[in-house]
Amino acid sequence: MNNIWSDYVQGLMTLYLSRKLRFDDFFFKQYDRVFNLDHNKNLKILEIGCGPGALAEALHRWYPKARITEIDRDSNFISFARKNIEDVIFMEGDATHLPFENDSFDVTISNTVQEHIEPTAFWSEQRRVLKPGGVCLCLSARKGIHCTAPCLETTVEEKNFWESVPQSNDVLEKHGVGKYWLSEAELPASMEQNGFVEVTTGYALIDLTPDAPKYSSQMAETMIEAMRKNDLEALQSMHSSNAQKAIAAVNAKYDDRIHLYREGIKQWDTTVSVTMIVRGSKG
Ligand SMILES: C[S@@+](CC[C@H](N)C(=O)[O-])C[C@H]1O[C@@H](n2cnc3c(N)ncnc32)[C@H](O)[C@@H]1O
Repeated sequence: MNNIWSDYVQGLMTLYLSRKLRFDDFFFKQYDRVFNLDHNKNLKILEIGCGPGALAEALHRWYPKARITEIDRDSNFISFARKNIEDVIFMEGDATHLPFENDSFDVTISNTVQEHIEPTAFWSEQRRVLKPGGVCLCLSARKGIHCTAPCLETTVEEKNFWESVPQSNDVLEKHGVGKYWLSEAELPASMEQNGFVEVTTGYALIDLTPDAPKYSSQMAETMIEAMRKNDLEALQSMHSSNAQKAIAAVNAKYDDRIHLYREGIKQWDTTVSVTMIVRGSKG
């Protein structure tokens, strides 16, 4: 359908790697408590705005009996997910005109999607395709904590590069990114206003601190590599041949961070994200 999100808003690997961490099994219990779904049922689950599919992978692990369908209007994300994730159906399509019959799914779920879609269309399409008694789960990122390691501060090369390229703040506005953002009180109220019942809220706290002993070395290094990819994709998205020095500087600082981690020289840099989960029933 289009590549707007992957080309202009968020790079594919940035989204995929950050979400893979967010939906790591390490955090499953927090989600499971609020999702409150029956693991033994052959649930039909639809994910709206799935992006490159990190939540799809997690759902497939967490609910092995479920039949999972995923939809997004970004063609790059869907083709990446189709190639990488087995036993899940990926479709290009619009959340405001879902290509499914009424009463088709037991569960609809979305992560960081509601804020980009006009609420009446967002909720009413999910209500339409849910079976009576079906569950709608809406996950939404809230304000978190970010503390950078000294070795990961923005380098002179990066500063010079970003000063040399034209900055366009209207890309997000042009594509309606975050246009329908709702507060922690407005989000469940909006779900109720749009016909869902038994609405509840909960929060998952995702603490990504590589130096915390509770994480394996593999997970810690995955956190650092996800940050590296985020910075590299931002530079590469400018399609500028002047980015080479900045790219080298980014690689050098993350190599340094990995080295410090392996040497046990703790930096305690951290990214804590809070995911709000709103759960409602079709009634
Ligand atoms: C912030 S991204 C989140 C992606 C994914 N849920 C994740 O957490 O990795 C928002 C996603 O919503 C998709 N999207 C936005 N509006 C849409 C619409 N009307 N129909 C289908 N997908 C939409 C975008 O293409 C993008 O993949």
